Amino acid sequence: MRMGVDYYPEHWDRSLWEQDAKLMQETGVSLIRVAEFAWSRLEPTEGRYDFTWLDDAIDTFAKRGIQVVIGTPTCTPPNWLVNAYPDVLPRDEKLHPRYPGIRGHRCYNSPSMRHYSALIVEKLALHYANNPAVIGWQTDNEFSLNECNCEHCNARFRTWLQEKYDSIEAINAAWGTVVWSGEYSDWSQITTPLGGMNYKNPSFVLDYKRFETDSLVEFQQLQLNILKKHCPNHFITHNIWSYPMALDYYKLCENLDFVSLDYYPSTNPEKAESSGYSGALTLDLTRGIKRQNFWIMETISGPPGCWMPMWRTPHPGFIRAFAWQSIARGADTLVHFRWRSAPSGAEQFWHGLIDHSNVPGRRFEEYRGLCGEVRKLAPLLEGTEVRGEVAILHSHDQYNAFQIQYQVDGMDYFDNLKTIHRAFTKLGIVTDVLNESDDLSGYKLIVAPSLFLLDPELASRLETCVQNGAMLVLTPRTGVKNLNNVCWIQPLPGPLSNAAGVTVAEYDPIGRDVHHFSWRNKTYSCSQWCDILTPQTAESVAWYEDDFFAGKTAATVHKFGEGEVCYLGTVPEEAFYVDFIQDAAVKLGLQFISDLPEGVQISTRVKGSTRYLFLMNLTRKEQIVTLDRVYYSLLNEREIGQVLTMAPYAIEIVELPMKST
Ligand code: GLA
Ligand code: ZN
Repeated sequence: MRMGVDYYPEHWDRSLWEQDAKLMQETGVSLIRVAEFAWSRLEPTEGRYDFTWLDDAIDTFAKRGIQVVIGTPTCTPPNWLVNAYPDVLPRDEKLHPRYPGIRGHRCYNSPSMRHYSALIVEKLALHYANNPAVIGWQTDNEFSLNECNCEHCNARFRTWLQEKYDSIEAINAAWGTVVWSGEYSDWSQITTPLGGMNYKNPSFVLDYKRFETDSLVEFQQLQLNILKKHCPNHFITHNIWSYPMALDYYKLCENLDFVSLDYYPSTNPEKAESSGYSGALTLDLTRGIKRQNFWIMETISGPPGCWMPMWRTPHPGFIRAFAWQSIARGADTLVHFRWRSAPSGAEQFWHGLIDHSNVPGRRFEEYRGLCGEVRKLAPLLEGTEVRGEVAILHSHDQYNAFQIQYQVDGMDYFDNLKTIHRAFTKLGIVTDVLNESDDLSGYKLIVAPSLFLLDPELASRLETCVQNGAMLVLTPRTGVKNLNNVCWIQPLPGPLSNAAGVTVAEYDPIGRDVHHFSWRNKTYSCSQWCDILTPQTAESVAWYEDDFFAGKTAATVHKFGEGEVCYLGTVPEEAFYVDFIQDAAVKLGLQFISDLPEGVQISTRVKGSTRYLFLMNLTRKEQIVTLDRVYYSLLNEREIGQVLTMAPYAIEIVELPMKST
């Protein structure tokens, strides 16, 4: 467990390197990430490589005991490359190139981009394979899809489809192109989406999204092959951007050693509280990608800006608290973005730990304290992991399918996932947020929000979990379509109707209207969607209170094998989820805390029978938390009372007693 910073030697006069290295060493920084945008300095003109400046920089830092992660510079193709080989640039739907000016101006299928990327990565790999200061690599930077329509993407899209579908007839059948004379009679008629109407065949668009992910994965794989070959002792990671994301992170990260996340919780007071909860989800999602601990490769150091009007400066305690939140949810190393604010370029006001003044100030002192704390607790936390008791399912395919076809005003796949996750977080229940294709055995509770695309294979895996004793919670828009994004011709929830013991007789997409339903003699509000349910073998447990379907079933429970399936036919307010989850937790024997104050979060890291509890006040307010007994605070080295007053952004870490079994 260590602390690092993102450092750009090429932005600074050399005279600053030694000064910076010295201050890093004194502060407890033992790692820098460098070079991920430095192509024009590493290869100033075609074939002329110059790594001497990077060698010198690495040496300067290595002398101070600071190790290095090198980012491959392929996010920023230099001007000479773009100029000589214009196929590097992605083309928009009018086939206009996306010119440089900032970064990310590259087509993943461009032969020149692939060729020159492979060359620079190979040169770097050979050059740094045996440099003792270099420990690993970051591929590129924050990959995302670029919707390129160039000739190479078109050609590759067609071969991708040929590999998937074999024949043109099979595509026509899978996509249902018969509607509106969309049938293809020759492969050449299939192109990337070239503008036109928004309302394209959803099967085509979903496959195009999958193709885009695969193109990017292929582009990255070229780099992985080179790095693995020449640097077998180095790790390889990638810094993913936040959620939600069209790009399939599960595929992107499959061949990486671990995932890294760039985490920028909002500092604006009106967002600060909700951002702690969405941050918790982002961290749980990140841990779920490879089901292992991860790194934070960038995180907040000062007021962010430039891409938008500047946010507020991190309130005292904010940088430290959100760093501990990341560790609490599975981060093993924290790299702060960035050491010092950039003096030039498009991002001058996305502030670093040190301002342009080069005078370390309040934020830096907070960071220095954090480094000391991490160093102190690292020996205890080393090797510990977060193990969620509950699985929440997530998928980029579902996200994309909902993006392609908005179901109703106000319905957002990811926002609904957030509400469910937040309810768990408010109860202090840590969740593993997993890809729906993951092995789910062992979870007592599985929440599967809106499995819009549902094939019999996933349905049967979920059925098996329930038969073996799990509780499965389903929500509206489940089982609507097959994986080709074509509707099932059968009652909803499609392939899960049998396990759920219920069918949807009719639905009303109520959008932003607010309706009500009753559950356990209490009334809750709901919106977006109302499935009017007909229980088959399930039992009704909630009833609508409004409209022509007042009195009809809104939710059911069905005993199935050793477990049960709960079908929620509407999108309830968060308070319902909190009550519902609490009820399920009691039934399933899951631990929870019913009176955690708003904005206070907990998490646990475990190793064998040793368990460390993190208690975090992620708000600007003082909060009072009631604990089950007196504990010793490992961070603050004092006893903390059962009734604990937490200052704004206070963190406590305690060792829990051994679990009685
Ligand atoms: C991303 C990028 C960084 C930087 C930060 C701040 O996380 O990876 O290069 O641009 O955002 O905006
Ligand atoms: Zn392209």
